[in-house]
Amino acid sequence: MATSAFQFEGNPLEISQRLSDWSQWTTKSGTIADGTTADKACEFFSHYGDDIELCQELNLKAFRISLNWATLCPKATNQCHLDGESLDYYKKLLEALKAHGMTTFVTLFHFCLPRWLSEMGGWNNERTIVAFAKYAELAAQELGDLVDYWLTINEPLVYAYQGYINGLWPPGYHKNYRLAFQAIRGLLEGHAQAYQAIHNISPKAKISFTIHWRPFVARRKVNPLDLISRYYRDYVFNHLFPLAVEKGQLEFPFPLNLSKELQAISGPVAGLKGTMDYLAFNYFTREICEFKFSLPLDILGRQSQIAPLEKTGMGWEIYPEGLYYLLTEDLAPYRFDLKNNARPIFITENGMSTCFPANTTNGDWSLNDDQRVRYLVSHLMAIHESIKAGANVKGYLHWSFLDNFEWSDGLTCRFGLVRVNYTNQERTPRTSAKVYAQIAALNAISPQCIQTPTRLR
Ligand code: GAL
Repeated sequence: MATSAFQFEGNPLEISQRLSDWSQWTTKSGTIADGTTADKACEFFSHYGDDIELCQELNLKAFRISLNWATLCPKATNQCHLDGESLDYYKKLLEALKAHGMTTFVTLFHFCLPRWLSEMGGWNNERTIVAFAKYAELAAQELGDLVDYWLTINEPLVYAYQGYINGLWPPGYHKNYRLAFQAIRGLLEGHAQAYQAIHNISPKAKISFTIHWRPFVARRKVNPLDLISRYYRDYVFNHLFPLAVEKGQLEFPFPLNLSKELQAISGPVAGLKGTMDYLAFNYFTREICEFKFSLPLDILGRQSQIAPLEKTGMGWEIYPEGLYYLLTEDLAPYRFDLKNNARPIFITENGMSTCFPANTTNGDWSLNDDQRVRYLVSHLMAIHESIKAGANVKGYLHWSFLDNFEWSDGLTCRFGLVRVNYTNQERTPRTSAKVYAQIAALNAISPQCIQTPTRLR
């Protein structure tokens, strides 16, 4: 099961002082589509004991959390320890997960910055990189024994895109490609330093980052301009970050590499080469893209309005075949580590949303979530097919366990296998949770559930 701190916790340590850029951002009017905040979210902070019990009842054996950097490092100091109260919470949470037999995945940066760092320019300021490495080192010292898999950074390109290009997330820039790519460089440096810091403490630690992988499809298959846009979108969104990690240096394809601004941030990153002990991907949907004439010319094109496949509540097309091709073909450049061992692969998020207003209360709304059952089973089948074809997949974490705060979409878009009634925090497993529990118990999909993706090439 996959979760993240800000979207789930409703952590009073954070909310009372608005310690992160995100808790600050939600107080600005117009930033969240349904006008909600994550001040309570699904109150995982106070309910985690029962929630973990429920996870165990659902036969689940792996759990992904993120640490809230803002509560662990709340002040602008050259700190040599993590905040005691926050650390205590994470120790207890991880101990509870371990006591229930869970394999633990811990993310260090899942989109939220301590506010004091965001006010200094976030990932565009060297100070953030240094602070991130120190935070990683302290987290490894204090919590390392309870962590099976570390993820330094969640979805770097999504973060850069939402924060610097379309302005939906903090810091809220519009079309600032220079700062977006510079932030990517900062995230690469932060990842490299955190990776080295954790390995210095525990040489056997398993450390990676996770990429939101989106197959891009040209709208007009024989239109060279759409194909060009498809190529660049795929390169930048999917490959830029992992290719840089694999090679140890940030590189932009022609003609982007002619830009003086991009040249200034290209090139080797100290300690970066090969720093992925396993491969981690979040997979949700595909994207159709098309070239758009504009001045200055934008080779990245834009997302097409055309999306013919069945869609989820957030309008995302359901395309399990993309997961199969990711696992069998697209990740080829990363399959082997520097010693030529096949890297284990984990799906660290996969799931879909249905939309119900945050204040929906009584009744059986959304419990019979047949679409989610089909989504879940077809994506698990795609993984099964990919394993048969030789993919080294070792684990799957569903996004998400409970309904939670979906960033700029607020509390309306619900990804949970378990429904949350936000008015009283009651949890009710949906049909999908029961199906998933059965699959987890059998480690197999029963014949009546099977749906093999139909559009495999
Ligand atoms: C991912 C993100 C999660 C969650 C999910 C559903 O991009 O890591 O935090 O929001 O998408 O949109």
